[in-house]
Amino acid sequence: MNILGVETSCDETSAAVVRDGTEILSNIVSSQVDLHRPYGGVVPELASRHHLEFIQPVIQEALHASRCTLSDIDGVAATYGPGLASSLLIGLNAAKGVAFTLNKPFLGINHLEAHLYSPLLSESSTLHASRFTLHDLFPMISLIVSGGHTILAHVTDIGWHEILGQTVDYAAGEAFDKVAKLLGLCYPGGPEVDRLAKQGNRAAIAFPRSMLDDPSFNFSFSGLKTSVLYYLKKNPNAVVADVCASFQEAVVDVLVGKTLRAARHTGVRAISASGGVSINSRFRERLAAECPRRNLRLFLASAQLCTDNAAMIAALAFHKLQRGAHSDWSLDVAPSIGLGTNSM
Ligand code: KG4
Ligand code: ZN
Repeated sequence: MNILGVETSCDETSAAVVRDGTEILSNIVSSQVDLHRPYGGVVPELASRHHLEFIQPVIQEALHASRCTLSDIDGVAATYGPGLASSLLIGLNAAKGVAFTLNKPFLGINHLEAHLYSPLLSESSTLHASRFTLHDLFPMISLIVSGGHTILAHVTDIGWHEILGQTVDYAAGEAFDKVAKLLGLCYPGGPEVDRLAKQGNRAAIAFPRSMLDDPSFNFSFSGLKTSVLYYLKKNPNAVVADVCASFQEAVVDVLVGKTLRAARHTGVRAISASGGVSINSRFRERLAAECPRRNLRLFLASAQLCTDNAAMIAALAFHKLQRGAHSDWSLDVAPSIGLGTNSM
């Protein structure tokens, strides 16, 4: 079963063809980072105009790269939320148009739920060669860490999850971007901070580990950003690499600490992470060191599947369509929808 997926929730125009929920035949992503960089963040109107211009060629390229024609497509899926309303509308309507023309099933997908699935999509290529199936990997603790979200979830199967905690203020990626801005670095700041931190001293500055000892599984990053702001005001000649390394260590301590505690609390034997911040090299290094010590399996999405992409949309849609899910033509965008619970 070949599913065409479409993703336009923020600043990436993406289309993909995925076979049977596991095999990525194509995954085309047209990034708008260069377009938004001069503004230091995503400008919604520019984003939707770019989606409008690129959605058709990106879908065309996804079909071409997958060596499929429209007649090989068995279903169409698109992100319907959360995200920017004007951006979501472009992908959702393009996907509806394709499905309507082909007379094939159409399904709207929650972008956050697709992030939960993306590490398993990375894993599924190795699963092909082993006797395991995706269902053997559950239950697991899954962390979504992106520019817009920080969510810790207990996932018991595809489509079955419970939110354990989330950020009460900034998303982790937002904290990286804001601190990078304070340091005069380029947008998006996460990759820049990660790069500079490699040359810095992680123990140089004792930034706060907000909510690390709080019994909840929630996160807070605004106090940490304010601490960096005050530190820079007091120390205008601070070594930028040391600030990056110390700030990054504070974020990673909290992300890794809470994720491991959630695993202990629920008794799961596997952890996964997705979203742009999960590309962070120190985050990956720490999890890779801690998980084997605790006998936990670790699933991290490949870099291309960590950030926004349509392959995760198409892959999740396959599993849902197989269980009989479908959306009405009247499905509207849902810009502020959360991850929710147990969507199947
Ligand atoms: O998942 P994503 O591409 O888009 C959203 O859905 O938000 O995440 C983008 C976020 C940005 O805040 C960016 O600074 C951050 O991920 N990011 C990183 C790294 N690469 C991207 N943060 C820390 N370290 C990185 N290497
Ligand atoms: Zn995302």
